[in-house]
Amino acid sequence: MSELGLTKLAVMKRYWILFCLASFFLFENGCREAEQKKFTDEKWWKEAVVYQIYPRSFKDSDGDGIGDLKGIISKLDYIKNLGINAVWLNPIYSSPNDDNGYDVSDYRNIMKDFGTMADFDSLINGMHQRGIKLVMDLVVNHSSDEHEWFKQSRSSRTSPYRNYYHWWNAERGKPPPRYSLFDINHDAWRYDSVTNAYYLHYFSRKQPDLNWENPELRKEVYAIMKFWADKGIDGFRLDAFQFAAKDTAFPVFPPGYEKKFQLYYAIGPHLHDYLKEMNQKVFSRYDVMSVAEGAGNSFEDAHQLVDADRGELNMAYAFEGVDIAKSEGYSLLHFKEVFSRWDSAFALNGWLSIFLSNHDQARLVSRFGNDSPEFREASAKMLATFLMTMRGTPYYYNGDELGMTNIRFTKITDYRDMSIKNEYQHQKDIHADTLLFLENEKFVSRDNGRTPFQWDGGQNAGFTTGTPWIPVNTNYSFINAALEEKDSNSCLNYFRKLVDFRKSNPVLVYGKYKLLDNDNTQVYAYTREGEGKKMLILLNFSAKNAKADVNVSMAGAKLLLSNYVEGQSELPGESGYALRPYEAVIFQLQ
Ligand code: GLC
Repeated sequence: MSELGLTKLAVMKRYWILFCLASFFLFENGCREAEQKKFTDEKWWKEAVVYQIYPRSFKDSDGDGIGDLKGIISKLDYIKNLGINAVWLNPIYSSPNDDNGYDVSDYRNIMKDFGTMADFDSLINGMHQRGIKLVMDLVVNHSSDEHEWFKQSRSSRTSPYRNYYHWWNAERGKPPPRYSLFDINHDAWRYDSVTNAYYLHYFSRKQPDLNWENPELRKEVYAIMKFWADKGIDGFRLDAFQFAAKDTAFPVFPPGYEKKFQLYYAIGPHLHDYLKEMNQKVFSRYDVMSVAEGAGNSFEDAHQLVDADRGELNMAYAFEGVDIAKSEGYSLLHFKEVFSRWDSAFALNGWLSIFLSNHDQARLVSRFGNDSPEFREASAKMLATFLMTMRGTPYYYNGDELGMTNIRFTKITDYRDMSIKNEYQHQKDIHADTLLFLENEKFVSRDNGRTPFQWDGGQNAGFTTGTPWIPVNTNYSFINAALEEKDSNSCLNYFRKLVDFRKSNPVLVYGKYKLLDNDNTQVYAYTREGEGKKMLILLNFSAKNAKADVNVSMAGAKLLLSNYVEGQSELPGESGYALRPYEAVIFQLQ
């Protein structure tokens, strides 16, 4: 090789080394940056959008007027097409239905009204084939009084099942008062002449509280949980579990205690021991998520339930947000303050559920939005935008995606919910104003959220060919899934768009939340930021035009989503950003 050739080779070699060094440096840096940007502790249940199905009211397949499992199976494609990836199913176990399945008489069987175990197997297979996880309700603060355990327990003081429940022998005198949420007299002790003793029931007389202090009972519950986990379910929602642990000495509470049910009854002694045990015996052995109804009385209580290092639960529902809406309205400042406070308390550790409705609440749009013909659609979409852009796992109740509204029953005989009937009787007994009571129930009653799902404009909204167990809302002629399917701007199609949007933007799941324009009484404005992305969300919670003053740099901002057909073309400027009634917009900032 010539001298010139050798020099060329040497130069090329040097360039090659430089190129390699530079590439290595860039690659290293890129990795580090990616590492830094990556959200930590990612979990499927954090990324899930959970759709709640109330089986009794979803779809009836056999014409008996009651929704059932085959009905749900027939709608699996609808559910899949919502884009959601998990379903929470209210209780489907055998039950005499004093409280619509929240009074279980056999934890290993399916309620006759709902079908058979074979139907359940088809349901779970159908869900899994479609990539949908199934979360089941676990109702073990209490059982039904028709459960075999209770039948045995009440039969004799020496029954091996006696201690599965809480009994107070009458020769000790009357037990210290305890409050019942559903009892006509609000007395949680019910006298039973068979053994001359009182049993405890925080809910109805037909829902005796189980004794979690008894290790035998706990063993039985874990075996039941394993039975369902072995069937392949993907999670448990622990009904009323914060009330499960009790001080069995039943100390006397100070006067007025009954108004503070949550304070005196939640997170009793050893509750955390029971949860740790449940985690060790069940949760840790399966890929299941766990969520508790209720989060105690403070952030500390809530953290102790859900922080990862506690080995208890994955998340909890805190009630403070959902309780804000009252029949006289609510203040947006209060709403923002509550959601911002909870977010910041869980920014570094723990995980929250985000929800504004469920089977225990009236309809989302009637409580938090505006269900007048003019604003129903815009406000329902705006609320969905809120739920899908907050940090935490969103839970969305069936029918809200259509913008279904409160039915507003006028007579007590219209209601099906035992808790309302009992409370009505109580109001009568204490000579209270029952008309006022009924007026308020039009706004708050949980039966508002339990009217049949409105599938189409046909007979009974396509829910059943028989007589529905609870009346169908007459507005089904214009609020129904079939109509909304065809309308690209319907609540239904907007909901689908939003779910898809959340799924493709992890920043909405994990990103940092920051409240803007704090004092604005009409607009809820916030950013979500992380992994190099930043989004600005502006929500007009009022029926009037509003202005958001967000004071963030809008250079290069892009409008990504809006609940109005005609999206805003301008970006927020010096003088703020104008929003139409119940308008919701999402901008990408970077
Ligand atoms: C929970 C359920 C509710 C039920 C109660 C008693 O709060 O969500 O529907 O009535 O527990 O089980």
